[in-house]
Amino acid sequence: MPYPLTRARRLRLSEGIRAMVRETHLTPDRLLYPMFVCPGEGVSVEISSMPGNYQRSIDKLVEEARSVRGLGIRGIILFGIPASKDEQATSAHDDRGIIQEAVRAIKREVKDLLVITDVCLCEYTSHGHCGLVRGSEIRNDATIDLLAKVALSHVRAGADIVAPSDMMDGRVAAVRNLLEKSGHHNIPIISYAVKYASAFFGPFREAAESAPAFGDRRTYQMDPANAREAIREAEQDIEEGADILMVAPAGPCLDIIRILRDRFPHPIAAFQASGEYAALVAASRLHWLDLQRVMIEALIGIRRAGADIVATYFAREAAQLLS
Ligand code: PBG
Ligand code: ZN
Repeated sequence: MPYPLTRARRLRLSEGIRAMVRETHLTPDRLLYPMFVCPGEGVSVEISSMPGNYQRSIDKLVEEARSVRGLGIRGIILFGIPASKDEQATSAHDDRGIIQEAVRAIKREVKDLLVITDVCLCEYTSHGHCGLVRGSEIRNDATIDLLAKVALSHVRAGADIVAPSDMMDGRVAAVRNLLEKSGHHNIPIISYAVKYASAFFGPFREAAESAPAFGDRRTYQMDPANAREAIREAEQDIEEGADILMVAPAGPCLDIIRILRDRFPHPIAAFQASGEYAALVAASRLHWLDLQRVMIEALIGIRRAGADIVATYFAREAAQLLS
């Protein structure tokens, strides 16, 4: 219909009408809050490249978890900073390890909060790679057996959901099979099905103290130039027993989120990475951007692209703003 019969502005002229025709909504129950737990007591160290996010000891972590649950956030993703690292990532599957103790404490102290654990080796290996290393090779098959053990130890401690993030082939099947064999039939797996070798993960390596000592992650994480490959990764993970597919990073991969949304009926999650957070916070500190507005716009964009669930370091602030 030509102008003036059609005037797009008719539906924009008041907040009332804008709200009535709004297509996408952001609510706290769509957000997952990533958190870092470290040894000690009373520890709360701000991550310099991620202002507003902290490495916390278990007591502080529990406090923060309770507080964000109060804001309507239903789930957290836990990353651990262990007391010791070695070549074999021994501390990753220790029943008394940092994640295992943290999960136990949160499940004991905080009601109705989903505790999701990131399952990877990079925070626990002395070399900082997501898999076991022989020479300069990142070993696939030995790694997935170990990852399954890590996931099982998280579940034994009380984790509600596990999220393998290592990008080894076959790891979802390895985790799923060991959980089934061990009687844990009802633990959802959020697989980082599509995870790119992204520079937007930069600040995370400071936060988790997990920068690779040599080389980079390009032999296991995906080439950011590839989209069709994302479909293959997603299909594979579904076949292996994943319940929810995650894409990381989020903002640079909105097309990928949309492709998965249109192609698979599964719930889709997106991880707004540490660097996406850092960039917006940094620009706002220079008074170049309005942080509240760019934060909501970025999160809405990720939802509009097709993500059901958004993992974001802005979760606390966004939930506060939305309530
Ligand atoms: C661990 C892991 C990473 C992220 C999620 N799980 C880092 C990486 O793979 O280098 C990305 C998180 C972020 O940047 O916020 N493998
Ligand atoms: Zn890793």
